[in-house]
Amino acid sequence: MKKSFSILSLLLIVLVGVAARLHFTGARVQTTKERHCQNSQAAYKDARLPIEQRVDDLLARMTQEEKIGQLALVEKNALETPEDIRNFHLGALLSGAGSKPATNSPEAWRDMILGYQAYAQETCLGIPLLYGIDAVHGVGGVQGATIFPHAIGLAATHDPELVQRVASATSQELSALGINWNFAPNLDVTHDQRWGRVYETFGSDTKTVTALGLASLRGTQAPQDAYLPVLATLKHFVGNGEMTWGTSGNNEYHIDQGDTRLTESELRERHLFPFTQAVQEGALVVMAGLNRWNGQNLSANTHLLTDVLKTELGFKGFVVSDWYGVYSITKDRYMATVYGINAGIDMAMLPFDYKAFQEDMMRALAQGDISRERLDDAVRRILTVKFQAGLFDRPAPTEEELSIVGSAAHHELAREAVQKSLTLLQNQRKTLPLSKSTPTIFVAGSAADNLGQQAGAWTIEWQGVEGNTIPGTSTLAGIQTTVSSSTHVVHDSTATFATEAERASVGIAVVGEKPYAEGVGDNANPTLSPEDLAAIQALKDKSRRLVVVIISGRALALPPEAKDWDAIVAAWLPGSEGQGVSDGLFGNTPIIGKLPVAWPIPKN
Ligand code: BGC
Repeated sequence: MKKSFSILSLLLIVLVGVAARLHFTGARVQTTKERHCQNSQAAYKDARLPIEQRVDDLLARMTQEEKIGQLALVEKNALETPEDIRNFHLGALLSGAGSKPATNSPEAWRDMILGYQAYAQETCLGIPLLYGIDAVHGVGGVQGATIFPHAIGLAATHDPELVQRVASATSQELSALGINWNFAPNLDVTHDQRWGRVYETFGSDTKTVTALGLASLRGTQAPQDAYLPVLATLKHFVGNGEMTWGTSGNNEYHIDQGDTRLTESELRERHLFPFTQAVQEGALVVMAGLNRWNGQNLSANTHLLTDVLKTELGFKGFVVSDWYGVYSITKDRYMATVYGINAGIDMAMLPFDYKAFQEDMMRALAQGDISRERLDDAVRRILTVKFQAGLFDRPAPTEEELSIVGSAAHHELAREAVQKSLTLLQNQRKTLPLSKSTPTIFVAGSAADNLGQQAGAWTIEWQGVEGNTIPGTSTLAGIQTTVSSSTHVVHDSTATFATEAERASVGIAVVGEKPYAEGVGDNANPTLSPEDLAAIQALKDKSRRLVVVIISGRALALPPEAKDWDAIVAAWLPGSEGQGVSDGLFGNTPIIGKLPVAWPIPKN
């Protein structure tokens, strides 16, 4: 009896032990695995069923680890091994600025992303990855893609139809590359020219930002073959654009990632409006800013993320935090996760440590610091968006589709955008338009023959590139192809022109800012560099007429002598088509841009 009892109890202990293992370790996953892996006919895979039904079906099949994986947005370079996509059931990857395949070519990008998708397909549920990138002026990170003007230049066109076409062309290039998610449009309303992100915005007027932001959203999500080509992201929610100088949370910055000190009614009036409209227009993703509102991180603000955005505005998509945004809430990583997810962040742009995120989430759920309902709500939102974007049903892009990347038609569109963005700041003595048969033209300035500078940051690298390494035309090349065959064009960036005895009929100085991104570009006094000012002066002395073209991401303070420059044109950050600048200078197209931000010009 004693013996049989002990055998029985031993058996019982073993059984309980096995059950416990089944529950607490991978074995439970194993059971689920068998269940859902065998189910190739699962309802969620049936494109004919309503999305809600597909989401319900899929959610019911998911383990906790699989759910947590959907909440993680990971920088692709942070993957210890691509197999971790499968091991950690990751739901989304991104290429942060400058993050690219070993060879930066459209083919390599597409192969890389399809490769990552293949790992996601190896999981039991085969949930496709979202792959996000900042295609804020064309797919800037991809060598060979079309580089459009930055948003500030598009804003100067005040032309929603054009902005929509640019966004749609960008989406086509993204889609061909296998990238299904764009971190754009930017709906920030800028209020301070010292901020390093002015050029990413559609300017300082809330109505203009709204009109152009909506156009960009429509263009980005314009359906192709019944699927959304690319998901748009409204960023940065909210008030990012009116932070107080000197309040940055980043020691190396001044205003970027700073504190937005506004009352709620000011915040709503000046900054919430574009988001309200875009949510109604069908936006499916909103990115929470890295700014604070009256001292509180946006990623921790339940009132704004949940009460206002999700409840009041009825936003049904998902909220993603910005780069390391959740971990900026507090130094305690675990508590930061708890605060962020509970405040309403559905997906965390970690962007690095997905292992720690999984551990923290498991712990938070076990301890009840984050409820299972909140987890399910976040996963439901993310999955719904994935279905809405057609991720489960659409075929992978073919190799032939890559020909759209940097196509001639897109370069033409970029040129049109440049032409329409040019803004006349001054035109004395009817200097512009210039005659194409001007006998001699001297061209000077740091930006005259510098595609990298005219493209600005978010081009190949986060902080941009120098020189002529991307396909396109510099302003100098544009001038050379526009003028008559008898025109003598001489280029010398410092305007020394040592070998030229004659004065030029016209001097064109192409000057401006070197590329910068985010807080790196915070600048207490944005103005022209001493070198550019010296080149302008030297050119003025050697030319009968002086035209100054300013390549910049914001309004620059001009010196008093600017009143003696015959013509001044703001070309913003035109991107790859310098030809569009010379079109305006020589009257191929009229200069029609209007300032999207205030730009005081010294007067006589
Ligand atoms: C920026 C976002 C961007 C994200 C991903 C952040 O630093 O603030 O605008 O979308 O990085 O690259």
